[in-house]
This record gives sequence, structure tokens and C-alpha cells, in this order.
Amino acid sequence: MKEKIWIVDFGSQYTQLITRRTRELGFSNKIFILEDALARMQKGEYPEAVILSGGPQSVFEDTTDFSPLFSNKKIPVLGICYGMQIMGQFFGGKVERGTQGEYGKAEVTFEKIAQFKKLKNKFQAWMSHFDHVTKVPKDFSVIGKSANNLIAGMMHNERPLMAFQFHPEVEHTEQGREILSAFFELAGLKKDWSTNAMLELCAQEFKNLNDAKVLCAFSGGVDSLVAAMLAHREIGKNLFCFFVDHGLLRPQDHHHIELLKEHTPLQIEVIDAKDIFYSKLFGVKDPEEKRKIIGKTFIEVFEQKVNEYTKKKKINFEYLLQGTLYPDVIESVSPHKKGGKSVTIKSHHNVGGLPERMKLKLVEPLRMLFKDEVRQMGVQLGLKSEWVNRHPFPGPGIGIRVLGELSEASIKKVQLSDQILFEELTKQSLYQKCWQAFTVLLPVKTVGVKGDARAYEEVICLRMVNSQDGMTADWSQMPMSFLAHVSSRICNEVPGITRVVYDITSKPPGTIEWE
Ligand code: XMP
Repeated sequence: MKEKIWIVDFGSQYTQLITRRTRELGFSNKIFILEDALARMQKGEYPEAVILSGGPQSVFEDTTDFSPLFSNKKIPVLGICYGMQIMGQFFGGKVERGTQGEYGKAEVTFEKIAQFKKLKNKFQAWMSHFDHVTKVPKDFSVIGKSANNLIAGMMHNERPLMAFQFHPEVEHTEQGREILSAFFELAGLKKDWSTNAMLELCAQEFKNLNDAKVLCAFSGGVDSLVAAMLAHREIGKNLFCFFVDHGLLRPQDHHHIELLKEHTPLQIEVIDAKDIFYSKLFGVKDPEEKRKIIGKTFIEVFEQKVNEYTKKKKINFEYLLQGTLYPDVIESVSPHKKGGKSVTIKSHHNVGGLPERMKLKLVEPLRMLFKDEVRQMGVQLGLKSEWVNRHPFPGPGIGIRVLGELSEASIKKVQLSDQILFEELTKQSLYQKCWQAFTVLLPVKTVGVKGDARAYEEVICLRMVNSQDGMTADWSQMPMSFLAHVSSRICNEVPGITRVVYDITSKPPGTIEWE
């Protein structure tokens, strides 16, 4: 499948949103950095339409030759924010630096034009700009103004070129989807993005695998599960899923794997590596050190298993299946991705880093998809909604939820308390009300009373957050009665715990996990 629309990313914080909205509306698309889009266009390769994102730059500082973007008169182009300023300047209009920017909500009034006839004339739109087009180019018309009397939209009188100073892709802009649709209508595009189209696109990744054996580091989370189901559909028995039990799982994880073994066609081998992990981890206090040990041991266990397959079963793996998603592969020019050193807050343990010597080639069938699309596809592949909507669970598991030194007893305390939290969330239909929920063992002793005796025991912290992608998060405002009930059950049922606290820190400044 060829992507219909190219989204040229000028570094807007909303570029991924443009992609998602466009797909939601039924059109395939791909994000390009400007240089790549220009290079392709110079070779005569064009999509069916182009969207220019916003960006932090100013046209006054940019000397790029944008002509390939506009030289083919048939190609529809939508400019958003900075994209509108580029279009305005390119065609000879006037762009000026305002005395003050427009940030946040602004009221916009549309002109009565055919493209907007089904839309409200006055609406709230999301603005985030300093420069703006003060005079539209010859052959363009003003199609909208903001309450500050600034030009909020323009359109070419003959060519399919449209631009907005505001962001139709964000939720804060009323009727944003309809505004984007007006452009797609103008562009005369036919819808081509659907769950079936996604399945077809992902299936292509398996086309040339022939009879090769494919290995999957299977966690049971939605990404590896959907990737594996898809792989199984394409290559059947040539897919082998290894699930490493590092002894840092919760009861719900064991149960989940059992269900998947029973109810999916996947060949899942559970590798019991608890003893190896425990022998390396016990006695280690530092969170980063724990993460590194877990990551390294994971690879060792994995490699050992692969060697065993080669020697004993004469099965040679050629590929490694991974559930990498689109946000991880987008070559974005966003400030946080390009240049600049970002500080490592936590080194995430990822099975991606298998040693070179294993010589496995990667298959990443989900690399064009967003998480919600992966979920949608999972359902289409016959997976239960509760499997595709599970909360994320970090690779190091309970290893980073017992603060400080691990021991079998401390792991047990988290397993028991987490199970109680999970049971109550499910029972009270609150599981989907938060993005992630878990318990943490705090290694401090506090005084309490149990029965008639003094107790001097540890503390369990409940952590529940709402988030979109884990990058930022708010603590979840759960019902008091729910918190009270969970607290009471944990104090009564988990030996060694006399106190339960609730973490009311957002991210930032806190992170979601405690270590
Ligand atoms: P933080 O704690 O960084 O977590 O706010 C954001 C999200 O990432 C998960 N997380 C991890 N996932 N390995 C993982 O696979 C890790 O080492 C790790 N640390 C945090 C965390 O559970 C949350 O969903």
C-alpha cells in the first residue's frame, strides 16, 4: 500500500496528531522530514496530497527552497500554522512578526464558502503562533479571521491549496475533524485506511520470509501479542514465542499467559528463569543497577534458549519479531528527538538489544501503527478486549516496585497487594478508568496496631495514573470508598504490612514508577 498523504514535519508538537486524525478520517499517510519529501519530489515522486505541519521556526530565518512542495499544480497542499506561513510567503504574500503572539483558544469566523457550508461559522480554535500572514498572496482568498482580526485561513482561488493559522488536528479546536475533512474533499481523496488496510500493510512484512523460523520475545503485552498473532496468521508454525519468567511477575501475569496459551494458536514457551534472576539481583540496591542486571540476564536466558533450540531441536532462528510502534520509528524533527542530549531519567530495559552475534534480522510489522490502532487490529484478529486493553507493565516488573533490595518476602508482598488492587479495580469496574495501576513496597517501617499488639511493619503505596502515553501523567482521582476498601484488604491480608498510602504526584515532577 502506498501512503496517500505525506505529512511534512517541521517539528510541531502536534505532527503525530495530524497523522492520527488523518487516519481516523480514513486516509493513509506517512510523516516525512522536509529533506526527504523535497528529494522525492525532485525525482518526480508525489503523494496524492501534502500536509505541512506547524513548527517552532520562523520563515524569516528559513532560506530553504520550498518550490518542489508547490511546483506540481495538481497536488493539493494543506498548510497548518508554520505551514501556512511558508505557503503565504512562497506565493508572494506578506508574513509579519506580530507584536504579540496568539496562544491557546481563539474565536475564529469562517467566510461563507462552499467547502465550509456544513460547518459553523464561528468556533473556538487552538492557536500557537507569533508570526502570521498579514496579506494573502495574489490568487488566494481569506477564508477565516480570528477575533483579533488576524487572518486565520486562506485558500487558493483555483489550485487545491488551503491553509490555517490554527491547529485543526487538536481536540481544543471545535469541528477540527470536519475542517480537515473539508480539505480532503477539496483534494478529492478516496478513503483507503481501515483495519483491513492496516492488516494488509502489516502482513507485507512477512512476505519474503519463506520458511524462515521467527522468534518472538513475548511479554503478553498488547504490542507483542498483536505482533505475534499477526505473525502466526502469516507464517503459522514458524513462529516461536518465548516468555521469560524472571520471578518478578504478578499473579495476573501468570494467569494471562496461561489464558493465552489455552485460547490462542500461539506456541508459547514459558522459560522459568526465576532462580538465575534472583541469584543475580538479591543484595543489589541501586535501581539502575537492578534494571541493567535484569536486561542483561534476560538476554542471557534468551540466548541460551536459542542455542538449545539450535543444538537439540535443529531449529535455527533467522528473525526476531518485535512489536515496535510508529512513535518509536518516526524520524521526527521535534526538538526532543533531534540533536540536544536528553538526560537519561531511567534506562528502560528493552529486549530490542539482543547481541549482534545472534545475527537475527528484525521483523517489525507494527512499525507504522499507533497503539490505539494496534488495539483495534488485535480485536480484528480475534483477541479479547481485556487482553488488548491491559495496562502497561514494565519489563523489570516487580524488580522496580520493591524499593531498594529485593528478597522473596518483599516480592511476595507486592504480588499479594497488587493482586488485591487488581481484583478490586476489576470488581468495581474501575480498571479502565486509569491508564496504569500498581503497588509499591516502601522499605520503611512504621508503627501500627494489629489485634491488640504493637506492630512495626512496612508500607504499601498505591499508584494509579491517567495518561495518554506515559510521557506525562496525572494521579487518578479514585473514589474514596474504593481506596478505603483496598487499604483495608491489604492491611488485613498481606503479612508484614500495616500501612497503605496513596501517591498523589503527577508526572512531572514525579515519574510513574518509583524507581
Ligand atoms: P516512568 O516511571 O518513566 O514510566 O514515568 C513511564 C512508563 O514506562 C514504564 N517503565 C518501564 N517500562 N522498562 C519498561 O519496559 C522499564 O525499565 C520501565 N520503567 C518505566 C512505566 O511502567 C510506565 O508505563
